[in-house]
Amino acid sequence: MEYEAAWLDGRVPCAVPDIGGIDGIYLMSDTGGIPSDNVIIDTAAREMGRAVREMFGTEPVPKQLLSTDTLYTKSNLNANIVLRTTAADNKPVGAFSITADGSTGLITVSSASGEGILYGVFRLIFLLRTVTAFDRLNCSESPASPLRMLNHWDNLDGSIERGYSGKSFFFENDRIIINDRTEAYARLIASVGINAVVINNVNVKAAATKLISAVYRSEIKTLTGLFKKYGIRLYLSLNFAAPMELGGLDGSDPLDEKVRAWWKRALDDLYTDVPDLGGFLIKADSEGRPGPFTYGRTHADGANMLADIIAPYGGLIIWRCFVYNCKQDWRDTVTDRAKAQYDNFIPLDGQFRDNVILQIKNGPMDFQAREPVSPLFGGLKKTNEMMEFQIAQEYTGQQKHVFYLIPMFKEVLEFRTYIKDTDDTVCDIVTGRTFGNVNCGMAAVTNTGNDENWTGHDLAAANLFGFGRLSFDPTLSSEDIAREWIALTFGSDDVIFQLISYILSTSGPTYEKYTAPLGVGWMVNPGHHYGPNVDGYEFSEWGTYHRSDAEGMGVERGIKGTGYIQQYNEPNASTYENLETCPDELLLFMHHVPYTYRLHSGKTVIQHIYDSHYEGAEEAVRMRSAWCSLKGRIDAKRYERVLARFDLQVESAAEWRDAICSYYRQKSGIPDEKGRI
Ligand code: GCU
Repeated sequence: MEYEAAWLDGRVPCAVPDIGGIDGIYLMSDTGGIPSDNVIIDTAAREMGRAVREMFGTEPVPKQLLSTDTLYTKSNLNANIVLRTTAADNKPVGAFSITADGSTGLITVSSASGEGILYGVFRLIFLLRTVTAFDRLNCSESPASPLRMLNHWDNLDGSIERGYSGKSFFFENDRIIINDRTEAYARLIASVGINAVVINNVNVKAAATKLISAVYRSEIKTLTGLFKKYGIRLYLSLNFAAPMELGGLDGSDPLDEKVRAWWKRALDDLYTDVPDLGGFLIKADSEGRPGPFTYGRTHADGANMLADIIAPYGGLIIWRCFVYNCKQDWRDTVTDRAKAQYDNFIPLDGQFRDNVILQIKNGPMDFQAREPVSPLFGGLKKTNEMMEFQIAQEYTGQQKHVFYLIPMFKEVLEFRTYIKDTDDTVCDIVTGRTFGNVNCGMAAVTNTGNDENWTGHDLAAANLFGFGRLSFDPTLSSEDIAREWIALTFGSDDVIFQLISYILSTSGPTYEKYTAPLGVGWMVNPGHHYGPNVDGYEFSEWGTYHRSDAEGMGVERGIKGTGYIQQYNEPNASTYENLETCPDELLLFMHHVPYTYRLHSGKTVIQHIYDSHYEGAEEAVRMRSAWCSLKGRIDAKRYERVLARFDLQVESAAEWRDAICSYYRQKSGIPDEKGRI
């Protein structure tokens, strides 16, 4: 199938500053020559050449190495781009600077690392397409998060768990696919600074268990090499029960010598053939997946056993904290799924090896449209931590509805945990600032598939782009990121810019308004999680309740309830505990209140439910109209594709409105004061 290169698409009209064309791209090294095995610099030079061809229509001269002691200028070089490797410095791998020297006319991208040269080139391409003044090309950037990772939930049969953009482009019928789309993907994600990718689902079953074995070795090796050219390390999700399923052992106890020996043989073997492998992601003791609990062992026992084996290869174990009891009795009001991750992992703080990172979902539940920040971030002090966001829109419209997630991610990252007096935001923690650790970063469950446009909904590409940019530079605002993405994807037309900015910025709040109210979450159809079903998960075992009765709704998580709120440090705990200060948007997550309870907005809970659902459904209609006014301004194909999604969204938003409003009208017995039925 064909595909489009989204924001890298050279057809998009661009600014191009008046630099009189680019005729050549030269390499220069302050370190006595570019190492011949630096495949990333080759990639950078190739990307620069490609961009020059697409933007200026000229064929740049093939790259040559320049000496460092001649003063070059644009005229004596007949070229103006120099990729310069500098001596090692103490900046993070991937840092770069771009200098546009007015006196020589040269544009130099310099960095101490191949990764930095590549990111600098991609940045320069972006700038060449969006700014018009030569001196605006000058900049210096440095990645904030050491790990900027995408987690694919792709299965070997080609399906994608929670995938909304077609099938996997990594797997099909238990085979690994490697073709030009694979390379296009590496290019796409490297262009926004991603440096790590897990190619298979965290639920490792059937053939996926064998990805670490010789069966898939040559493909894993080829894939690892392909990603390496773009500065990306490949990771695999592991099955904790592999010693049984592949090795025929009778258990997977991490402290059993036979089990350890099995893992050691398997992973030594793998790393010997594929030394560039980044490491492994593990979902253990979660939603039916095997783990150390079966043997009375801790998650530290499990993670450390694997970490010790791969430490000599520089490998990382990324261990997920998404561990909870998914067999809860709904009548049990003491067990609280929101508390589980903190309860499971805080006692292990300080017990994990240096090459283990705990990967924590942004909220304590599961990627809802609104959740508080996971209190685990404010609890761990001696353990490497990493953020897990989800850009696959499982609970946020499944890429049929538009939901620009970056504002939500920013809110999470800016949340103060009060684990220290300063440098205590979630962003500080996952970028290593709080505790000075180097193994940390951000991951996102990704939203791509083999659809022509990669992300199903064309506007969902803003989330893939945005996550990459945000993990590289969390100080960027969500508006800045949207601006960059719109310019690169749709060009610099002002009307397009205004309308798509409007759509992106209202999309999240709109979705929140017409779905589950005031932070309570869920209310979706079980299994596939699309569309409204207020009691869909209410009487089930998954621990996701809204506790609505005739008087009121919400989960009491304060001191008189499950005690979840106590997992936060002060003053967050008091802010949430106290009804006066608990933010409206999280009220029903934190407390059970009567329908007649008055929010800070002055409205009662029940009236808020009615009003917000009507508003949300109306806003969906407005977003669709905004899109309609772009007809003729963007290519017909993309226009129609997005319009079809807006049609679905408008219909679904009305369905949500009606389902939620009718349910609460009936449950509460309180009519809408505006008389809507
Ligand atoms: C959610 C999702 C599952 C996924 C799980 C996870 O519960 O619905 O499909 O496996 O998260 O993060 O492991």
